[in-house]
Amino acid sequence: MNKPASLTDRIVRSKVWQSVFRQGYPDTAENQSKVMMNTWFLHIHPVKVRRHTLKLTYTFGLGVISFFLFVVLVVTGAWLMLFHVPSVERAYTSIQSLETSVPFGILARNMHRWAAHLMVLTVFLHLCRVFFTGGYKRPREFNWVVGVVLWVTTLLLSYTGYLLPWDQLSYWAVTVGTNMVGSFPGIGESVRIALLGAKEVGQPTLTRFYALHIAILPLVMTILVGIHFWRIRKDGGLSAPVAEPSGKRAEGPSK
Ligand code: HEM
Repeated sequence: MNKPASLTDRIVRSKVWQSVFRQGYPDTAENQSKVMMNTWFLHIHPVKVRRHTLKLTYTFGLGVISFFLFVVLVVTGAWLMLFHVPSVERAYTSIQSLETSVPFGILARNMHRWAAHLMVLTVFLHLCRVFFTGGYKRPREFNWVVGVVLWVTTLLLSYTGYLLPWDQLSYWAVTVGTNMVGSFPGIGESVRIALLGAKEVGQPTLTRFYALHIAILPLVMTILVGIHFWRIRKDGGLSAPVAEPSGKRAEGPSK
């Protein structure tokens, strides 16, 4: 006589469960792979990963930490945008009132600042980790180049954000920085004026830096991070140490 189906079996075989998850409970290798491939939240992960890539000391999780900080910056930045006014007359006071009269205003501002500082550090350390583990070599050259652009975008995001509070520090940092650009032979002065939108730092500069900081650069970063993660999958997961226990350097795309 057949054993009556358990409650779990009945749920897993029910039409409601299958319409959402489309495969059985992940208790066999096949179902485990299907869960990874067919679940929206998990499909970013490969079905199989090489053991050494799970070792904390191989990546120190620096790429993931950088991504996490980017998410924190987007969330806290969206909150700050509701209160910051990108005008030379009102930017400074809008930041002051954010700190004194907006609930969690100081917290949001400091989280945004600290996450930005930390992201510069973690992206740089991630770049160093990739370099020292040889992660830039074939077939990952393209992803290395994407990474370099991500690094420059991270710095530009920090720099453009610096002007937005419109305090003395911001004003002079942007004046000095753009003067340095201006001293570049040939195109320097034209680039300086293109950045400032005028002959010196003023409202057009604030408008440009604001547009770059809240829309253009975050969009570039989002697209590039998407390409970066997609390339990691297409390049066969993370790079392998030169001498694996098997003596082989594992390559080839992950399934
Ligand atoms: C916004 C900045 C960045 C984010 C969010 C990011 C994210 C990641 C993540 C999550 C990984 C998986 C491994 C790990 O966590 O270390 C990774 C790998 C990689 N990243 Fe980045 N990354 C960024 C910037 C960079 C930069 C600046 C470079 C180099 C110039 C770079 C080059 C690479 C390469 C080549 C790999 C594959 C490494 C390997 O196979 O060992 N990334 N990145």
